[in-house]
Amino acid sequence: MYNVAIVGATGNVGRKFLEILEERNFPIKTLYLFASKRSAGSKLKFKENEILVEETLEKNIKNKKIDFALFSAGGDISLKFSPIFASYGAIVIDNSSAFRMDKNVPLVVPEVNPEDITWHNGIIANPNCSTIQAMIPLKVLLENYGIKRIVYSTYQAVSGAGMQGIADLENGIKGLAPKKFPYPIAGNCLPHIDVFLDNGYTKEEIKMIKETKKILHNSNLKITATAVRVPVLNSHSESINVELEKPYELNDIINLFINAKGLTVYDNINELEYPTALMASGKDDVFIGRIRRDFSTDNGLNLWVVADNIRKGAALNAVQIAELLIRSDM
Ligand code: A2P
Repeated sequence: MYNVAIVGATGNVGRKFLEILEERNFPIKTLYLFASKRSAGSKLKFKENEILVEETLEKNIKNKKIDFALFSAGGDISLKFSPIFASYGAIVIDNSSAFRMDKNVPLVVPEVNPEDITWHNGIIANPNCSTIQAMIPLKVLLENYGIKRIVYSTYQAVSGAGMQGIADLENGIKGLAPKKFPYPIAGNCLPHIDVFLDNGYTKEEIKMIKETKKILHNSNLKITATAVRVPVLNSHSESINVELEKPYELNDIINLFINAKGLTVYDNINELEYPTALMASGKDDVFIGRIRRDFSTDNGLNLWVVADNIRKGAALNAVQIAELLIRSDM
């Protein structure tokens, strides 16, 4: 049994950590909840218990013998407190982008690169939500056919922007002005997730490009991305266009996807079966459909990939990393 801490427990992903630890019956000895000073003293329900939320301070961390610290309180809190938790012996699984590209920090999707958990130094990074869901099908394609180029186009839910993102959609439907996004998200699509960089891309797009190369251990992949926030409450949808190195038969690829762990093929256009955000919400698997040849290029393939961005895209993936550490005896 393990002592587990959640940092950012009152947030959108933090609450999902609680739900997922409970539903998977994670072997917890004591669960500790941390957030900001604002919510210190409040309580959150876990199984039959009400658990106190503490302020994230070193003095509240040091005597607790924490084994796993699941972080989702933003990059600044991760940068400041992950090393502190790690110095007291915890393995931090960090949901922010703070450490993802750090050479000393593995970036892990358990179905894709489980071997990378072996070389951590106390911190393991959970990839970006839109990257995670693309990794399972892309790993299958890379292993079997090689990949020349990837074009990502995302349709991302407001839940990925935390409680404030959800509030902007809900209030926007009532005609209220946005607080989180620069423009109304209700009835709108914003090609702007995270900040703009000097090269004209958003940080979200660059995260997808860099994290894909790190997770798939292939720095030569050619990748481009356009990330769009859409007025959907939960679950990210992605169009992924891939140019494979070798010729393929569509049925072979569909069979490989059917056999991939964590991936559900939902693809029968005759019955109007294709994944949607509403059907993927609350589910653990990544869903794939609209699997079809891109006739405009040699060995081209189009995919439509949908997953619950707060589950597989965040909290579930982090808990699966912890489960993997337990199975591998840490
Ligand atoms: P709090 O509720 O006390 O503000 P979301 O992204 O869904 O909005 O959640 C952000 C999470 O990060 C919340 O749990 C929030 O706690 C937490 N958080 C924000 N600022 C801090 C801070 N300075 N120290 C610790 N946790 C923080």
